[in-house]
Amino acid sequence: MPETPSDSRSACTCVVGLQWGDEAKGKIVDLLTEEHDVVVRYNGGANAGHTVVTNGQTYRLSLLPTGVLRPRLRSVIGNGVVIYPPRFLEEVSQLRSGGIPVGDNLAVSDHAHVIFPYHLEEERLSEQGSEQAIGTTGRGIGPCYADKVGRICGIRLGELLHAQHLKERLRPIVERKNRILRALSPDARTFDADALAEEYLGYGERMRPHITDTTRLLHRALREGRRILFEAAQGSLLDVDHGTFPYVTSSNSSPAGIWSGSGVPARNVGRVIGVVKAYTSRVGRGPFPTELNDGPEGVGERIRRVGREYGTVTGRPRRCGWLDAVATRYAAAVAGADELAVMLLDVLTGLSEVAICTAYELDGQRLDEFPGDAYLVERCRPVYETWPGWQEDISGARRLADLPTPARRYVDRIAELLNLPVRVISVGPDRQQTILC
Ligand code: GDP
Ligand code: IMO
Ligand code: MG
Repeated sequence: MPETPSDSRSACTCVVGLQWGDEAKGKIVDLLTEEHDVVVRYNGGANAGHTVVTNGQTYRLSLLPTGVLRPRLRSVIGNGVVIYPPRFLEEVSQLRSGGIPVGDNLAVSDHAHVIFPYHLEEERLSEQGSEQAIGTTGRGIGPCYADKVGRICGIRLGELLHAQHLKERLRPIVERKNRILRALSPDARTFDADALAEEYLGYGERMRPHITDTTRLLHRALREGRRILFEAAQGSLLDVDHGTFPYVTSSNSSPAGIWSGSGVPARNVGRVIGVVKAYTSRVGRGPFPTELNDGPEGVGERIRRVGREYGTVTGRPRRCGWLDAVATRYAAAVAGADELAVMLLDVLTGLSEVAICTAYELDGQRLDEFPGDAYLVERCRPVYETWPGWQEDISGARRLADLPTPARRYVDRIAELLNLPVRVISVGPDRQQTILC
């Protein structure tokens, strides 16, 4: 891919999703590892599911940065991530048993907040059968971030390395959590502080070789001129501040989260690659104006089947629909995207027509801008323009010229509507199935 800017002040790159997640960020991060030295996750936790397919092998990463697949690189989990230690250890051991060494190359921030089982229980009780459910991944993400900003109950990873301290901190916290859980439901699971402390001290010991001050590590890397790649989890429309609140995740999934979630000032990020699917998908609840609920023989179901649109983390069927240029243009502006990677173009092959939403209609008025509120987006009707589809198999295309004219026109139209150049077109999950423009 084209080189990153040479100015060391802006030598970092960010790969970010411009929809509601699962845009195939993992594939783009993997492609970019060759020209970077460090890969950093700065937000979210094991709610993410990034799939990478290389040489016929499929890897699924949830909590760890995609960079761990290339042990030459340093992989960093920044302070803005929330960690469920059993998941961390499981993912490391899965990689090792698949022949990928994980050691010093993986660093985790001592300031990253820790997910405890009471977070999972809190989330289960808030989500199950509730009309206010968000449709979360059930990984304890929201309750853990709530404790972080609430301060009283938040525990950071470095605290798992201090036995007496952790025991003393956990006792009042667990007592408080048990009271809250019982108030939420008489059948709630409750917890024993000392047993939890023992369990988590064990995790701390096993994670010790990886736990460090990653902010300083990244500052050192910047001074040494290392090229840093930030890997966003989720999509910019799931950003807690800029997304379709409350149907969002609990972190800044747009590049807004880089500074707070890693300690690297935003001015160092000179290149933001906005990743978009050639259509749209969404898991969980929340407004989705271009969603296609057109039955078992319809386009929505076809996209789900051909694109294998089932959640990596939860296995839930993803909701599918046409590309929404209104929502994506807004996300690109929030993300400060410099360029686009258009993914899964092959999934649209075989359709007689493809549609793009270019505006909304709300209460009889045309809207060209994305409304900032979920309750308004919910009432928006998409205004579409349609383009001829293509029938040729494009999964073998490696150059722009290999694409049938309608497919090229469709991509050109995306670039025009988002006012950004398309630098990558992806025509299949494999690393090779990529067109660099
Ligand atoms: P992420 O969360 O943004 O990294 O995306 P996911 O990994 O959750 O979802 C993207 C899915 O699409 C993965 O299963 C990828 O292997 C797959 N994928 C990536 N690029 C392409 C493509 O161009 N075509 C097809 N058919 N699949 C792709
Ligand atoms: P990647 O990184 C798609 C969605 C959930 C739910 C909402 C809140 O693979 O793109 P949470 O568990 O975070 O509290 O759930 O956010 N969500 C994702 N959707 N891709 C993801 O990650 C997601 N991570 C969370 O489905 O709607
Ligand atoms: Mg995903």
